[in-house]
Amino acid sequence: MAETLKEKYAPYFKVGVAFGTWDIEPKKDLITTHFNSVTCANEMKPSSLVRPNGEYNFGPADQIVALAKENNMAIHGHTYVWHNQTPKEFFENTTPEKLLDTLRSYVQKVKEHYGELATFDAVNEAIEDKSEEYLRDTPWRRVLGDDYIATVFRVIKEIVPNTELYYNDYNDSFPEKREKILRLLKSLIAEGVPISGMGLQSHYNIFTPDVDEVKRSIEAYAALGLKLRISELDVSMYNHDIGEQISWPNPEYSKKQADFYGKLFKVYREYAKHIDAVTFWGVADNDSWLNGFPVRGRRNYPLLFDDNKQPKEAFYSVMDF
Ligand code: GLA
Repeated sequence: MAETLKEKYAPYFKVGVAFGTWDIEPKKDLITTHFNSVTCANEMKPSSLVRPNGEYNFGPADQIVALAKENNMAIHGHTYVWHNQTPKEFFENTTPEKLLDTLRSYVQKVKEHYGELATFDAVNEAIEDKSEEYLRDTPWRRVLGDDYIATVFRVIKEIVPNTELYYNDYNDSFPEKREKILRLLKSLIAEGVPISGMGLQSHYNIFTPDVDEVKRSIEAYAALGLKLRISELDVSMYNHDIGEQISWPNPEYSKKQADFYGKLFKVYREYAKHIDAVTFWGVADNDSWLNGFPVRGRRNYPLLFDDNKQPKEAFYSVMDF
């Protein structure tokens, strides 16, 4: 009987994990036992790869890529174009032509170092959360104009023709944001932009969204003919910034989380033919970005493994089918 996530889900999709260099030593066994796809949590973002003086620093990402290669794990690139964690020098004293050249040379450098990765997030989080607005106000958009998303997908694809390019965003399963994401994806497809997939970040919590909404979203994105990845999955114990610190262990919350994860993975299995990978954002609870965010000092328990690297109730619920 399969006891690891990657074996159990081998007939369905890859099971991935995002982590940083600091996780390698303490979590190496857990990472290589359960997962067969890797995303660098920060190390492959432009601000990690490029120093303010323009020099490249591949050292930290190299450590993660080496671990992935030694263990035959897929590597998902994250991310080329984003409003965060990008050197501000990219946007200083620039013109549309210059900025596209900066992007070209960045994508080229990453390709020279790592080759063409199979999949890469071309654009991250370009849709605005505020109801009345469509696109997010970003430095890329300010320089390149409203059609910058189509432009950058094309520019990137010329350099890495063998990489499947993804659009990646959060609140992927909240109806209002989903409609805006669908509008963007449809327009890109209609214009013949080389987009292969949609990444649903899937930063959920035990209260919201309803798993039926997740199912509706997967159906709607897949209906466009795109491949899907569940790219940054975690299930917080709190509805964003609402809720006081819970105690742990906590049978009531543990059960709620296990039920949520169980339902989610049932939907993922149902739509497995559209899903390339399901990637968790973090290995074990104690290294989650949700510790202290969005409420400072608040501990969270959003993953399948606890602080002692032991499987939680949620793990067994994902494995129980
Ligand atoms: C977003 C980004 C990720 C990461 C998380 C928080 O979802 O896409 O790269 O920064 O926020 O850790």
